[in-house]
Amino acid sequence: MLHLLLLLLLPDIVMTSSRRLPPPPPPRRRDSQVLNIRLCPQQRMPTVGLTVRCSNLRLTKIPAGLSNRTTRLFLDHNLITSLSSGSFAHLRLLAELDLSHNQLSFLEAGCFSGLAASLRHLDLSSNQLSALDPAVFSGLKVHANLTLNIWNCDCSMQMSMTQLDLDFSSLEEVICRTSDLPNLGAVGVSLVSLVEDWDLCGSVKRSPDVLSLVTMLLWFLGLLLCFFYYIHQNTVVARRHFDYLQFLQTRELFHMFSPQ
Ligand SMILES: *[C@@H]1O[C@H](CO)[C@@H](O)[C@H](O)[C@H]1NC(C)=O
Ligand SMILES: *[C@@H]1O[C@H](CO)[C@@H](O)[C@H](O)[C@H]1NC(C)=O
Repeated sequence: MLHLLLLLLLPDIVMTSSRRLPPPPPPRRRDSQVLNIRLCPQQRMPTVGLTVRCSNLRLTKIPAGLSNRTTRLFLDHNLITSLSSGSFAHLRLLAELDLSHNQLSFLEAGCFSGLAASLRHLDLSSNQLSALDPAVFSGLKVHANLTLNIWNCDCSMQMSMTQLDLDFSSLEEVICRTSDLPNLGAVGVSLVSLVEDWDLCGSVKRSPDVLSLVTMLLWFLGLLLCFFYYIHQNTVVARRHFDYLQFLQTRELFHMFSPQ
């Protein structure tokens, strides 16, 4: 009787339990991971391969349990803030990765490791990225969309740009949002132009020299001022003494020649 009632209410559980007993309770972590990945619609197409769409799910990290046959992975419009090393290492067939419109501000070195051979398109647009670490993109010769981030262009950004393997033709519209003090003219220019048209490192190195030169000049001027003031003051005192001596002299002469 009870069995019949359960069968009506929870057919799945009872069916599986009647097939195999006792059913081992699945570990909670694994369960939630499977749930996460189940929310992502999957589509298998003969030429393109397996497309997995985890867009717009308020995900805060990469869902585990992604099939290693995935060729296109959409993780856009989520709340992912960082990528850790080896996040996609098992996805050896992944050709397209869309991480746009997230909150990404930190990419750990090696977060795209394992993808160099397969990846063709990488979308990191509309995130909170400010620095480019060449170790993050090492070996990736991909077409990348890095627009609409908060790129800070300083000397290290310029150094990074010269070490990137990314397809430069795809980076032309990526612009500097901020820069450091002597280089603020670089705000609004494209990251690609940093490689040839700018010398952010040079001016960074030059600025302390200019500063110390100005300081030295001020010191010298101050010293000169003190010197002239001292001389001027001495002349005044000397003149006063001289005048007094002259006064004494004339007084003596006056006494000498005055009629007694
Ligand atoms: C996916 O993983 C399975 C088992 O771990 C393995 O046998 C298979 O070769 C892998 N496929 C790819 C494309 O890496
Ligand atoms: C890059 O991404 C932005 C916003 O996410 C989009 O508007 C733009 O069309 C993309 N550019 C390319 C070349 O795909």
